[in-house]
Amino acid sequence: MLAALSLIPLLAITATVLGDSDTDSLYGTWTSKSHQVFTGPGFYDPVDELLIEPSLPGYSLSFTKDGYFEEAAYRVSGNPQDPSCPTAVLIYQHGTYTVESNGSLILAPFEVDGRQLLSDPCKDSGSSVYSRYNQTVVFKSFLVKLNDYHGVKELVLHQFDGAVMMPMYLAYQPPVMLPTITLNPTKSATSTETGTHNKRSLRGMVKRGLENRYKTSAVKRNREPVNAAAYWWTSLGLIALGSAVFFIF
Ligand SMILES: *[C@@H]1O[C@H](CO)[C@@H](O)[C@H](O)[C@H]1NC(C)=O
Ligand SMILES: *[C@@H]1O[C@H](CO)[C@@H](O)[C@H](O)[C@H]1NC(C)=O
Repeated sequence: MLAALSLIPLLAITATVLGDSDTDSLYGTWTSKSHQVFTGPGFYDPVDELLIEPSLPGYSLSFTKDGYFEEAAYRVSGNPQDPSCPTAVLIYQHGTYTVESNGSLILAPFEVDGRQLLSDPCKDSGSSVYSRYNQTVVFKSFLVKLNDYHGVKELVLHQFDGAVMMPMYLAYQPPVMLPTITLNPTKSATSTETGTHNKRSLRGMVKRGLENRYKTSAVKRNREPVNAAAYWWTSLGLIALGSAVFFIF
């Protein structure tokens, strides 16, 4: 018993030193520090095409052992001119992933399934813009290791420019994910969207207080992973600033 216990720190040290960058080490659902954003049916309801706003911003990724991924992101960025007007974006994507021989991790979404809900309350007169979203994500490298302090596995992702993202923590194994098939096999954007327009708008208003408008032409694409990283860090900084201001007053 004692011998077995004393092995644990040793194993932890070994794992920390070596880390793991193979496909199997990604298996599971990972979430950022806020522990509020998770992939799966709690984030995106594919039947009603509803993105469900978590209570705090964060990022989640899930990976299967057979090459599928799911991404859920909720980012809030403050407005320096008017702190009461933060911009929020929810992104859902799923598809296939590969780990290349150079160590890069590439997420290739099913292009018809990705969704984005962008809310800019002071610019879009209180309603949100719901649109399709299709953005290949390339991470330069990744490392899975045991976090010595918390005793949980953490995933460290390096953006394409080499910038290190905030670590993500293993939340579920097996992963919590929607079915890893194309949820929206009709390629025609219009047929899907007209079909559920009324139902979705109503549900959206009831559940979220947001009016989901349809602007397929307004599909937002992230420019570069570099910018995404900058946006992300800026967002976190502004959230921190926002909280500070909140406490002072
Ligand atoms: C989705 O993204 C991929 C990779 O960037 C691109 O090849 C494809 O044309 C895009 N599809 C749509 C519908 O924009
Ligand atoms: C690694 O290889 C993949 C596939 O060839 C490529 O897309 C990616 O840019 C490469 N990564 C780096 C860091 O050059």
